[in-house]
Amino acid sequence: MATRRNALPYEQASRASPRARTEEYRRAVELAAPEPGDVVLDLPSGGGYLRPYLPPRTTYLPAETIFEYAQEEKLLICDWLRLPLRNGSVDAVISLAALHHLVDGRISFYREMRRVLVPGGRLAIADVAEGSPPARWLDDFVAHASSEGHVARFFRCEETALLAAAGFQPVFCERVEYPWFFVSRQEMVGFCRGLFRLDRVADAEIAAAVEHYLGVSETATGEIEMAWSLLHIRAIRP
Ligand SMILES: C[S@@+](CC[C@H](N)C(=O)[O-])C[C@H]1O[C@@H](n2cnc3c(N)ncnc32)[C@H](O)[C@@H]1O
Repeated sequence: MATRRNALPYEQASRASPRARTEEYRRAVELAAPEPGDVVLDLPSGGGYLRPYLPPRTTYLPAETIFEYAQEEKLLICDWLRLPLRNGSVDAVISLAALHHLVDGRISFYREMRRVLVPGGRLAIADVAEGSPPARWLDDFVAHASSEGHVARFFRCEETALLAAAGFQPVFCERVEYPWFFVSRQEMVGFCRGLFRLDRVADAEIAAAVEHYLGVSETATGEIEMAWSLLHIRAIRP
């Protein structure tokens, strides 16, 4: 796995602009379709941002490898591939914008998810699509504008073959587009600087790169919308 990325700027940006990724969080939860009373594992969770989007009486299990993310939510700090959870103890797993860091050995991750999910349980993966504007943003800009670089293997619907090999029934794969929301371009630049650890470039370079790679629009009420999209895959544990 690539070098660990600094968690604090990410966590601070996510807490300072909780509305930014509202639609992304909501759609990722929708993909997992949790029912009231379900146990929902969010892996890896970052600081754990999905609780407000879950139905009532849901047990939310945010799990992380990087303990520095544990600022506001109580996180299960563990190894992605060896979870301290019993077989068949989770109803749905949400993996949002992270698995692309697991360049090799993804089938081990899928097998571990199959172990912890109940029969009929859902695995929801929302991650960067190969060749998409977010992929070019990460590969062509973030990889150079962040002193941490960015190493990843992005997603295609062919990933469903690996899920099937791990014993899942893939049922859905589609790229979904939605905006990130900001009150100003300055908030957008600050958020991107923190989330992507852009410590090598000036604000103006970030603003220009967001415009170039992703696209920015202004609503009638003056709100700033930054275009984003992820590939959504849902698979059922038989
Ligand atoms: C973009 S964050 C996504 C977190 C959360 N799911 C969200 O949507 O905000 C990427 C996650 O992948 C993990 N991660 C990132 N880079 C990693 C790396 N190089 N090695 C291990 N884990 C990494 C971190 O633990 C982090 O939670």
